[in-house]
Amino acid sequence: MLWIKAFHVIFMVTWFAGLFYLPRLFVYHAMCSDQPGIDRFKIMERKLFYGIMTPGGVLTIIFGMWLWLDYGFSGAWLHAKLTLVVVLIAYHLYCLKLLNDFKHDRNTRSHIFYRWFNEFPVLLMIAIIILVTVKPI
Ligand code: HEM
Repeated sequence: MLWIKAFHVIFMVTWFAGLFYLPRLFVYHAMCSDQPGIDRFKIMERKLFYGIMTPGGVLTIIFGMWLWLDYGFSGAWLHAKLTLVVVLIAYHLYCLKLLNDFKHDRNTRSHIFYRWFNEFPVLLMIAIIILVTVKPI
C-alpha cells in the first residue's frame, strides 16, 4: 500500500504545481498587451495544462481510487475529502474554459479576479490534507 500511497502523493504534488501556477500565468496574461508576450503565455499555459496539470490530476485520482477500493477505507473524513476533490476537479475544468478563452483572445476577466482565483486551490489543499492525515471526523 505504501508504494501506491507514495505515487498518490507524488502525482498530487504534480497536480497542485499546475493548479497553483496556471492561474498565476492568467494574472500576467490578463495584464499583457504586447503580441509576442501574449503568444508566449498561450504556449506556456497549454503545455502546463496538458503536459503537467492534467496528467497529475488523472494519476492522483487513479492511485487514490486504488487506495480507497483496494484497502476499503471508509469514514466521514473520506466522504468530506472526496467532496472537496469534486470541487477541485470542477476548478480544474474551469481552468480549461479560461485557457480556451485566452487562446481565442476572448478573456474578459481582470488580473485582480485571477489573483483571488489563484488562492482558492490553496484552501482546498489545506482542507484535504488535514482531512486525510488527521481524520478529524
Ligand atoms: C478521487 C480522489 C482521491 C481519493 C479516492 C483519495 C483517497 C485516498 C486514500 C484512501 C488515502 C489513504 C489514507 C490513509 O492511508 O490513511 C489517501 C492518502 C492521501 N491522500 Fe488522497 N485521495 C484522493 C485525492 C487526493 C487529493 C486531491 C489530495 C490532495 C491534497 C490527496 C492527498 C492525500 C495525502 C496527502 C495522503 C497521504 C495521507 C497519509 O499518509 O496520512 N488525495 N488518499
